[in-house]
Amino acid sequence: MIEINFLDKKGNIKKIKANEGESLLEISKKNNLDIEGACGGEMICSTCHVYIVSNHINKLKKQSDEEKEILLLSNNIKKNSRLACQIKVTERLNGLIFSIA
Ligand code: FES
Repeated sequence: MIEINFLDKKGNIKKIKANEGESLLEISKKNNLDIEGACGGEMICSTCHVYIVSNHINKLKKQSDEEKEILLLSNNIKKNSRLACQIKVTERLNGLIFSIA
C-alpha cells in the first residue's frame, strides 16, 4: 500500500491508502474528496485540477502536451498544477501531498 496525503482547504491532512496504478482521481473518488472529475478521466474537462504540494512534483511522469492544453481551461494554474486523472500512483509517490485547486 502506498500512502497519499490530501490537504484540505482548512489545512488538515487526510491520509489515504492507495494501490499502485490507481489514479489520484480514482483514490479521491473512493475517499469522497470534493473533486469533480466530470469527464471521468478522459482528459477533456479539467475539473480534476489539483496542486501537488510536496516535492513529489519532480517524481511524476511528465505532463503530456494534451494535459497542458486541458489545464489551460482551468483557473489558478500554478507550476505544481496537474490533472488528478493523469497521475498514476507508484511507490515513488509514497507520501505525496496534494490539494484541490
Ligand atoms: S477528470 Fe476530466 S480532465 Fe481529469
